[in-house]
Amino acid sequence: MSDAAMSQAETAPTAAEENLLDVRNLTKYFDLHGDLVSRLAGKHQLLKAVDDISFYIRKGETLGLVGESGCGKSTTGRLITRLIEPTSGEIDLHGEDLLSFSAQRMRETRKDIQLVFQDPYASLNPRKTIMHILSRPLDVHGLATNWHDKRERVLELLNLVGMGSEHIDRYPHEFSGGQRQRLAIARALSVNPELVIGDEPVSALDVSIQAQILNLFRELQEKFGLTYLFIAHDLSVIRHISDRVAVMYVGKIVEEGPVDVIFSEPLHPYTNALLAAVPEADPKKPPPRLTLSGEVATPIDPPPGCRLAGRCPLAKPVCAEVDPDLRGIDGDHRVACHVV
Ligand SMILES: Nc1ncnc2c1ncn2[C@@H]1O[C@H](COP(=O)(O)OP(=O)(O)O)[C@@H](O)[C@H]1O
Ligand SMILES: [Mg+2]
Repeated sequence: MSDAAMSQAETAPTAAEENLLDVRNLTKYFDLHGDLVSRLAGKHQLLKAVDDISFYIRKGETLGLVGESGCGKSTTGRLITRLIEPTSGEIDLHGEDLLSFSAQRMRETRKDIQLVFQDPYASLNPRKTIMHILSRPLDVHGLATNWHDKRERVLELLNLVGMGSEHIDRYPHEFSGGQRQRLAIARALSVNPELVIGDEPVSALDVSIQAQILNLFRELQEKFGLTYLFIAHDLSVIRHISDRVAVMYVGKIVEEGPVDVIFSEPLHPYTNALLAAVPEADPKKPPPRLTLSGEVATPIDPPPGCRLAGRCPLAKPVCAEVDPDLRGIDGDHRVACHVV
């Protein structure tokens, strides 16, 4: 390579460098083994929880991952944190292949990717004080020096999530659902993560509290330049928090794009059907909406073709035979459909 070409190669940012997270062809199949007869016959059933999905998240933005219960959202989140290992695929963090990391490197990296779960009741140890719960990650990752510094840090974290210092020696049961979720967020932030994965973090809360917690997520994002993968089944939550949205159906991403495009110019029949179920934002300009027939398809040994084919009013013969690729429309908008 010439000197000029070399220096260009060094300075030009690659796509991977611009993205905090790059997920390619990520797949997770659960082997269900089946009943005794099928096991003896050597037949296995495969539950295709996440089936060859690709997406990226730019540094500092929020990707909303939306879809009905059981479509593979939580499995996707767990794969990215390596709580479970994928069947195949690649997960790059800052352009580095997370799946090739040694156990030691993964332990260090784990603090960079934090999860906030739906149920703050289950995720906070009821027998420990807030001081203990919020300082534990500092111990685990060797970020704490002495008791005094730890206490200062915990007080700072409480303040960040809008809770007073008087709470530090209390126990989780003394708090409301919204306060517990604030504490779960404080714990996630304690180790200065880059990526926070919220797995339905407001789904268990009252609507008025949901708005407060969503605003807190946004404030913290701005303050610390955090990157979010925000999982929800509720479209109004997704609309409020996301920069871009990926729509999942039975283990597949069927449409992805900037939040305004997904809500005002959805292309995929499934996205249209999801939007048909929420109150119209602009009644003067209602986008086309579809109603699907039948039940959600099963992820267990799914037939070839588009997973929506059996329910879709627009389906053609090809839809039952060939699984459509996610293809670019314009800008960041991508859709996996043979018809639209
Ligand atoms: N450990 C597991 N073993 C077998 N099946 C699983 C396991 N975890 C999840 N699944 C299945 O994978 C599919 C996707 O689950 P999940 O990712 O939890 O969906 P979501 O979060 O979108 O509701 C579901 O059919 C679920 O039953
Ligand atoms: Mg889930």
